[in-house]
Amino acid sequence: MDKNLKLQTLVLHFLNSRLTLPIKPSTPLPNSLMAENRVSMPYTGHLVLFSYPYQGHINPMIQLARTLHSRGFFITIVHTDYNAPHLEPSPGFSIESICLGLSNQEAREMDKVELVLVLNEKCRPPFRALMEDLQSRKGGVPVSCLITDAVMYFTQDLAEELGIKRMAFRTSSSTSTLGFQAIREKGYLDERADTSDELVPDLSPIRFKDLPFVKTKYPDYFSLFISSFTSKSFRASALIFNTSDSLESPALEKIRPQCRGPVYAIGPLNLPSSSSILLEDDKCISWLDTQPPRSVVYTSFGSIAGLDSSQVMEIAWGLANSGRPFLWVVRSDLVNGLNTAGLPSGFMDQVGSCGLVVEWAPQKKVLAHRAVGAFWTHCGWNSTLESICAGVPMACWPQFSDQRVNSRLICHVWGVGAEMRREVERGEVEMVVRRLLEREGEEMRERASELKKVVEKSLGKGGSSYDALESLILQLMSC
Ligand code: UDX
Repeated sequence: MDKNLKLQTLVLHFLNSRLTLPIKPSTPLPNSLMAENRVSMPYTGHLVLFSYPYQGHINPMIQLARTLHSRGFFITIVHTDYNAPHLEPSPGFSIESICLGLSNQEAREMDKVELVLVLNEKCRPPFRALMEDLQSRKGGVPVSCLITDAVMYFTQDLAEELGIKRMAFRTSSSTSTLGFQAIREKGYLDERADTSDELVPDLSPIRFKDLPFVKTKYPDYFSLFISSFTSKSFRASALIFNTSDSLESPALEKIRPQCRGPVYAIGPLNLPSSSSILLEDDKCISWLDTQPPRSVVYTSFGSIAGLDSSQVMEIAWGLANSGRPFLWVVRSDLVNGLNTAGLPSGFMDQVGSCGLVVEWAPQKKVLAHRAVGAFWTHCGWNSTLESICAGVPMACWPQFSDQRVNSRLICHVWGVGAEMRREVERGEVEMVVRRLLEREGEEMRERASELKKVVEKSLGKGGSSYDALESLILQLMSC
């Protein structure tokens, strides 16, 4: 049997065994949640935007939606009832929900590769029904273009079947896209890929250990996922990246000739608005107000990464022993297998007012605060871009997937971060925090503030991201 066909048969078999819950039809939203039921002129066009239902994907998609809305497009945001963001409709900005019948518990029990396949399968029927409904609404303006997360690769085939243009939006770095491609095409799924310092051919300075490998029980599905998301993004009417030519020109230049349509690097999208799934704890800001300038290390590992209790212990004591003020985001599901953060007992008493732990922070506001001097991050692409936009240097501790590639860019290419060992250890934490906040970190802080200016320039009139956005808008107007 042909390898792809075999994989697809395997996946179908696997999904049939997982999809025990019936897929509920799309639930229409009450009218109060719709900005307008019908789209009428004078909008420049009607765009439907659909994200992968995780914070790191939702945030840039909503930013893109707001940017395009401000340029005269009618926007319909589609989200899943699973992990729904808190969004308010407004004139010309409509919100639709599709129902998946997927519980948080079920999703949590799946590995990351399994989850992406299940979500692609589960979303297809209700998303299709919604698209058909939007297309046939009486008196409405038909959808002119779909903009969907590259990871939601099923939308490419669907758009082709429905005769609608689709643009893919890749919310992570373009270098990581090349890393994924290399894993699949060259079969780099081995131990070496996880540990070796050797440079990946044609991808320098990425080392084998920086490749965006994801630990999974299903390596064949991982390979299928990569091939689906890359080939379908490359086949889309356009591929949009939340990055800038000023940050990643070499990778973008390698991707452009592989794509059927144009590639637009329009980022970093960095509007101040929030689209958090979790409630932001605003006491961070009043606490930061009490700290000296550039004295605090902000510590957060994004919305997905899970740690074990021994890692939490090392992080906690490393931060405490550094003697520097810290603001640490400890999500309620941060510790694998437990519903509690598992901080060491007596830890907060010992730290006193020198540390603040919250479940979720208003991250962009935190990074922009004058008291923050460094960001200890897992190098999620949004965190990376937000730190660059704030000119804050990073301590890099990538956990999985694109984060490893991003860490290499931060530390080696842009020189605005310090690489940490994979095994977290309190002595190293203490040393890196001090290094970033004290005199030794001065050069890195200077580079971070230079990089901030470079990125700002690319977003300003005549800059590469500015021009890319204008070209994207022109293409969208002609859809
Ligand atoms: C995931 C992947 O890990 C990431 O590498 C990929 O690029 C996108 O999907 P995540 O792990 O959540 O995302 O990290 P990141 O990309 O940094 O996104 C997290 C987002 O949540 C950021 O926009 C950040 O501002 C926000 N956030 C995080 C908060 O608003 N408050 C917090 O307390 C923590």
